[in-house]
Amino acid sequence: MLNIGACKRPDRRAMDRPEANNGISRLKRWPIYRMARFLYRFSTDAEYRSVALIRFEKPPGLFQPFIDTLPDRYPFLFAFAREKLGADPEARVLSFGCSTGEEVFALRRYLPMATIKGIDINRRNIAICNARCRSSPDPAIVFEVGGSTRTEEIGSYDAIFCLAVLRHGDLSAFGGDRCDHIIRFADFERVVGDFSRCLRPGGLLFIAHSNFRFSDTAAASGFEVALRVPAPEPDPRTPIFDRNNRLMHGAAYGEMVFRKLPHYAQQAAHDA
Ligand SMILES: C[S@@+](CC[C@H](N)C(=O)[O-])C[C@H]1O[C@@H](n2cnc3c(N)ncnc32)[C@H](O)[C@@H]1O
Repeated sequence: MLNIGACKRPDRRAMDRPEANNGISRLKRWPIYRMARFLYRFSTDAEYRSVALIRFEKPPGLFQPFIDTLPDRYPFLFAFAREKLGADPEARVLSFGCSTGEEVFALRRYLPMATIKGIDINRRNIAICNARCRSSPDPAIVFEVGGSTRTEEIGSYDAIFCLAVLRHGDLSAFGGDRCDHIIRFADFERVVGDFSRCLRPGGLLFIAHSNFRFSDTAAASGFEVALRVPAPEPDPRTPIFDRNNRLMHGAAYGEMVFRKLPHYAQQAAHDA
């Protein structure tokens, strides 16, 4: 199982425990207890503080505020990238929403010749990435604070990874039939539309653990599916919402890698 986000779910098992209704659990519901707990965690836990601050700042374009990541978190996706791009000494790769850099350093092991850029909207994450780079320098890795790909050049990437970013942990933790009070399909569509602009014809787009389906976007008509999970099952941690931000009950989505069609790039250039 992948760990896709620090979704703080209500602990339903607590309902069955005898102490759930005793004095301690009542105390835990007091605002003063909660405030003390928040202050304690804020001052002692750097990851908790980072997430709390980005949620407070709410920078434009923010999707998943939680920064959970793991080294080599998506081996089958990274192996697929190696198969397609490993022989290219000039491959350019973007990790969008790279968190504290694990994804970028994993990609380096799969694609030793590639130039890799990591972008994250949370500047505290990028400070950690840069500190890691200083302690083990790699001239073909660069990190940047950013909430979109707007400043990236047209057709400049061979692959873009956007994994566990275009989602929000609160949507699985607290349920609900709509998502637009938290994240919106229109923003998703804009983000992936710009990924399409940044990819070269034939370039690969990796999207996983998103609350929306790439196939619902206008950009999808310029891509073919390059990798899908056979028989995907609904994942309660990643409910799927439609173009109108409505929950698609029981939906599962297994398409994960998309190849940009060459004729799409020509058509877009022609239309421009
Ligand atoms: C759960 S982490 C995923 C990290 C990594 N991609 C992985 O799968 O292990 C989500 C990351 O997306 C970043 N993020 C959310 N919205 C973003 C945006 N609009 N632009 C760039 N990064 C964003 C967050 O700061 C966070 O570090």
